[in-house]
Amino acid sequence: MHAEAAGGMIAQAPVVFVVCGQTTMSRTPFGQPDAAPEEVENGNWTADCAAATENLLLAAEAIGLGAVWTACYPYDDRMAPAREVLGLPANVTPYCIVPVGYPAGEDQPKDKWKPENIHYDHW
Ligand SMILES: Cc1cc2nc3c(=O)[nH]c(=O)nc-3n(C[C@H](O)[C@H](O)[C@H](O)COP(=O)(O)O)c2cc1C
Repeated sequence: MHAEAAGGMIAQAPVVFVVCGQTTMSRTPFGQPDAAPEEVENGNWTADCAAATENLLLAAEAIGLGAVWTACYPYDDRMAPAREVLGLPANVTPYCIVPVGYPAGEDQPKDKWKPENIHYDHW
């Protein structure tokens, strides 16, 4: 990953979002509505964070801002400082950091279409 590039963007951006996921969640045992809630693993936390991040990127683009997805999870050297600065509880993991700002120029979307990446009916 591009750690230096990410650090530069994060330092310069006027606004930075840190998308965090809850790795455990409180849930009432299935079929026992009166039972005490239990703390269980949230197996979907990375998918939740990825969807939230993409929505954030699209929303920024829609109002003319520039934003970049920079990885945090699963790299310890990136997660540790974010945890410390934000005082995150143990069950909240910093997933990625999204610096947001005004675009310096106009980038065109890349054409990444590769028909061989699409499989029909069978791999
Ligand atoms: C999971 C993920 C992690 C990324 N982490 C970084 C990062 O750490 N540093 C960075 O400069 N860009 C990061 N990016 C952004 C990509 O490098 C790239 O700018 C973006 O996905 C657009 O891709 P493209 O330029 O190939 O079209 C990340 C993107 C994704 C999807």
